[in-house]
Amino acid sequence: MKIGLTYDLKSVYLKNGYTEDEVAEFDSEETITGIEQALKDLRFVSERIGNIKELTAALVSGKKWDLVFNICEGMFGQGREAQVPALLDAYQIPYTFSDPLVLALTLNKGMTKRVIRDCGVPTAPFLVIESLQDLADFDLKFPVFVKPNSEGSGKGIGANSVAENLESLKNICTKLLYTYNQPVLIEKLLSGREFTVGILGTGKKAEAVGVMEILIKSDAEEQTYSSFIKQHYQERVDYKLAEGEIEENCKTISLKAWKALGCRDAGRIDLKMDENGILNFIEVNPLPGINFIHSDLPILVYKQGWSYKQLIEAILHSASERMINKFSL
Ligand SMILES: Nc1ncnc2c1ncn2[C@@H]1O[C@H](COP(=O)(O)OP(=O)(O)OP(=O)(O)O)[C@@H](O)[C@H]1O
Ligand SMILES: [Mg+2]
Repeated sequence: MKIGLTYDLKSVYLKNGYTEDEVAEFDSEETITGIEQALKDLRFVSERIGNIKELTAALVSGKKWDLVFNICEGMFGQGREAQVPALLDAYQIPYTFSDPLVLALTLNKGMTKRVIRDCGVPTAPFLVIESLQDLADFDLKFPVFVKPNSEGSGKGIGANSVAENLESLKNICTKLLYTYNQPVLIEKLLSGREFTVGILGTGKKAEAVGVMEILIKSDAEEQTYSSFIKQHYQERVDYKLAEGEIEENCKTISLKAWKALGCRDAGRIDLKMDENGILNFIEVNPLPGINFIHSDLPILVYKQGWSYKQLIEAILHSASERMINKFSL
């Protein structure tokens, strides 16, 4: 049983001239080593493949793996997260995490919200604009939250993400349209408590493993879970497991969204309350960060008494259901 590893290594792209912001979603050497160690502890043989270009070359040369552990975020195009899974589908090689349909859809937050809303999952009213002219259709109440439509890791989000009036909305949109060269999502501001829900499994076997409240300290520079706050979470964020009715409500909404979208194996769903305490779906992370120290999903499962090895084992177990020759863990 040989497991290939596909990933986008930050250092490789930085060496090739990309900026820190452009590679913010990519992985560190530490993340890859952590996965390799867990696979070794689970008695699997693993092999580093690398990014989509290295995968393409390896496939063309005739290489095969029983399963690919895929955490590639991709660099180019709206379907960038879907490219590696699509390639692996073409070569009939099973892989971890979601399929191209899910990864292409969920990278687009506005499209995902349309689907989610259709499934009866509560999500804040919104508008997606491609240019400032599209603000002619703006009919939301201020304040609103403004962010890139297709990014992760808090990219393009910070202290200046809230617009209180049309002038500041125009300024934020101008900056985001220019910097990220993609549509901008304008949403009702959700001013209440924030939670992230860890999900393991696929379809009917999916389970919410825990709900973690994101508590940004009152003296932090920003009260938004931005890329800056995520990077400096140790001094600025407390993570607390939710309990009781709130935990149950978060789990119910998240599982409904997870199953409706067809997400697989493992991920996180981010939720936030509005000013009346009503929970809203913000976004789904079907390729969740899995650095064994810093990523939200590992932090969440540790709080539930799991080890990193058990998390990787659960991901493999779920993915193995799609293998013709299933292995036993
Ligand atoms: N409508 C909103 N109202 C208030 N805050 C919001 C809203 N949307 C997003 N946020 C804040 O911005 C943060 C990042 O938003 P979001 O999860 O969409 O971005 P992301 O970059 O995809 O995050 P991730 O790191 O989880 O991939 C949220 O965790 C939340 O704190
Ligand atoms: Mg998020």
